Amino acid sequence: MILVTGGLGFIGSHACIALRRAGHKLAIVDNLANSKLAVLERIRDLAGGDVAFHRADIRDATALAAIFGRDPVEAVIHFAGYKAVGESVAKPLDYYENNIGGTFVLLKTMERYAVRRIVFSSSATVYGDPQRLPLTEDHPLGAVNPYGRTKQFIEVILKDRAIGSPEFRHATLRYFNPIGAHPSGRIGEDPRGIPNNLFPYVTQVAIKRLEKLRIYGNDYGTVDGTGVRDYIHVMDLAEGHLAALKFLLDKDRSITVNLGTGRGNSVLEVVNAFERVTGIPIAREFAPRRQGDVASCYADVSLASRELGWQTKLGIEDMCRDAWAWQSANPRGFPE
Ligand code: NAD
Ligand code: UFG
Repeated sequence: MILVTGGLGFIGSHACIALRRAGHKLAIVDNLANSKLAVLERIRDLAGGDVAFHRADIRDATALAAIFGRDPVEAVIHFAGYKAVGESVAKPLDYYENNIGGTFVLLKTMERYAVRRIVFSSSATVYGDPQRLPLTEDHPLGAVNPYGRTKQFIEVILKDRAIGSPEFRHATLRYFNPIGAHPSGRIGEDPRGIPNNLFPYVTQVAIKRLEKLRIYGNDYGTVDGTGVRDYIHVMDLAEGHLAALKFLLDKDRSITVNLGTGRGNSVLEVVNAFERVTGIPIAREFAPRRQGDVASCYADVSLASRELGWQTKLGIEDMCRDAWAWQSANPRGFPE
């Protein structure tokens, strides 16, 4: 059985479908801190098979031990954590406690039950302000906010754990900017409150929940002055987890690897693509740069291709089409 922490969240829900469809037996652990139970039924429908669910907090060692004790765990895929950069600046202790504390309890429980394979959700945010592009995995790390530092510290903990126990293997996946949704439109990104990220903001302008997009900065040294990111379709990202799991089960080593497309798109390019694909105009205005943003960030994806045999298949127009299929069918997100 593969244990998936945070499997009801945006990326975890898509990954669970890919894993189940590939024949893996799954159990999800999620405390619903940033997700809704309605996701579970939709995962089960789309995956075409049963998926076990435990409503539990990964910081709860007793609850976690009971789950590990029930069914032998072959590997863990660890999505659970908080992820909002701005909130992490306001509440750093909550972030250190949940992200690092939760991972710590998880790793101790894995040790106790001799589970020695983990796929971990890291982030391109660990690179901080890029010194050179595209970003290769050996680029120096320098996260610039508490959220990013939790990811950077967890990476160190995983490396130390692997040094201490040669049997232990991790696949640390540095995601770039995941967007899009399952093509059925039945699951997708459902942020609480006003979205911080570009894409859910755009789709909420499109359904008229929000009035207009504010584009943060048009004076960067980029193709059109707006920020450039490596947007990756969440379905491609889900497949990346399958490839990482296969790597861990087949090979006798760990890996730290970028998951992106290797291509950057500016904010204006994304917004224009969305308009082209959906035919819906997106009201927008330029606003000052957002504090902490970098001009450009995109991945070198050669390691993922070489080691995992994985590369993305979907482009920005697929991401726009599928995100819109989700948002238009679920204007208020998942039901409570
Ligand atoms: P999400 O918030 O949608 O999903 C996280 C899930 O974890 C939620 O369902 C939440 O309820 C659960 N959770 C949080 N704390 C928990 C705890 N203590 N115990 C049990 N469950 C808990 O986030 P996502 O976008 O799906 O991201 C998944 C992972 O990928 C996170 O670790 C995130 O930091 C990382 N990541 C996300 C992005 C992105 O842009 N979405 C980029 C890079 C990395
Ligand atoms: N942007 C706007 N207006 C908005 C929101 C965003 O113009 O309302 C711009 C940003 O300035 C940036 C681009 O759109 O240029 C992308 O911004 P996002 O907030 O969508 O994404 P970030 O690259 O800032 O960060 C995201 C996640 C991080 C993660 C990182 C990985 O929020 O947690 O991707 O690369 F670490």
